[in-house]
Amino acid sequence: MRSFGLLLFVALAIVLVPGAVSWSKEGHMITCRIAQNLLKPEAAHAVKQLLPENVNGDLSALCVWPDQIRHWYKYRWTSPLHFIDTPDDACTFDHSRICTLGDCVKDRCVAGAIQNFTSQLSHYKEGSTDRRYNLTEALLFLSHFMGDIHQPLHVGFTSDEGGNTIDLRWFRHKSNLHHVWDREIILQALKDYYDKDVDLLQQAIEGNFTDGLWHDDLLSWRDCDDLLECPNKYAVESITIACKWGYKGVKEGQTLSDEYFESRMPIVMRRIAQGGVRLAMYLNALFADPDNEQAAAIFASPT
Ligand SMILES: *[C@@H]1O[C@H](CO)[C@@H](O)[C@H](O)[C@H]1NC(C)=O
Ligand SMILES: *[C@@H]1O[C@H](CO)[C@@H](O)[C@H](O)[C@H]1NC(C)=O
Ligand SMILES: *[C@@H]1O[C@H](CO)[C@@H](O)[C@H](O)[C@H]1NC(C)=O
Repeated sequence: MRSFGLLLFVALAIVLVPGAVSWSKEGHMITCRIAQNLLKPEAAHAVKQLLPENVNGDLSALCVWPDQIRHWYKYRWTSPLHFIDTPDDACTFDHSRICTLGDCVKDRCVAGAIQNFTSQLSHYKEGSTDRRYNLTEALLFLSHFMGDIHQPLHVGFTSDEGGNTIDLRWFRHKSNLHHVWDREIILQALKDYYDKDVDLLQQAIEGNFTDGLWHDDLLSWRDCDDLLECPNKYAVESITIACKWGYKGVKEGQTLSDEYFESRMPIVMRRIAQGGVRLAMYLNALFADPDNEQAAAIFASPT
């Protein structure tokens, strides 16, 4: 457990380096806080049990951990788990080959990763002491990748690496299309509308699904018959948005400013909300009381 303290320290240092490669630290933190606020008692308890003591039960403190370790030798295999490369301009992909496109090893993509860590965590309740997998890590990976799969440009075209090679300007500074969706839009929103206060933004997002803009969508967001299949659906949503709102009309070298920002911000906020709500749905199902048949039914199909 002590290594987590060091990890957190290294984490903070790395987060300050520009060019991060997933929802910004803010995006992941908000996703995880939304989720944690929606946990039922059994799930809240399990999450606390799995988290290292030094974060005091705060999942969001470690939601960026998978970004920090992805280049470490031991975790290098996790690097391709953050995204899906889809065929250029197709705006969709073949489901049966979802994680085998390009030179990707089977299931080494963000949808496969969610499946993998979901099925690992489904054994938590057995309470076996001889555990094959580290379920603390599984929780952190699942929480992080549920965020990433909702970032539209994490399910982007292969040749431009999900917009990473599309260099452009964001208002007055250099950026790239991927980074605009990871971070720039969120930071701009924080600056323009939320006094740079992440808590205020989180509350605004929560307000919009508890009784507001998205309240009527909540049921459909949570709709999932099979926790292992639903990530495919989330990935399709992302590539669809990436085409319609991310790539559309954007050219290398261009300057993106107010118009792009104002029209895309609501989409980013909605994706963060969906990621949080769905992460909670997963954790509530995974850690539900075994007597809760409704939650158990989500595992109806074989793993
Ligand atoms: C699980 O992983 C965490 C983070 O890598 C580590 O700190 C902890 O020691 C691991 N637990 C076990 C039982 O290996
Ligand atoms: C699933 O996760 C484990 C580590 O927890 C890893 O060893 C294994 O390769 C992963 N499977 C896939 C298909 O990525
Ligand atoms: C919440 O909804 C209102 C419209 O009802 C919108 O103006 C605002 O931008 C939304 N906030 C977030 C964070 O989505």
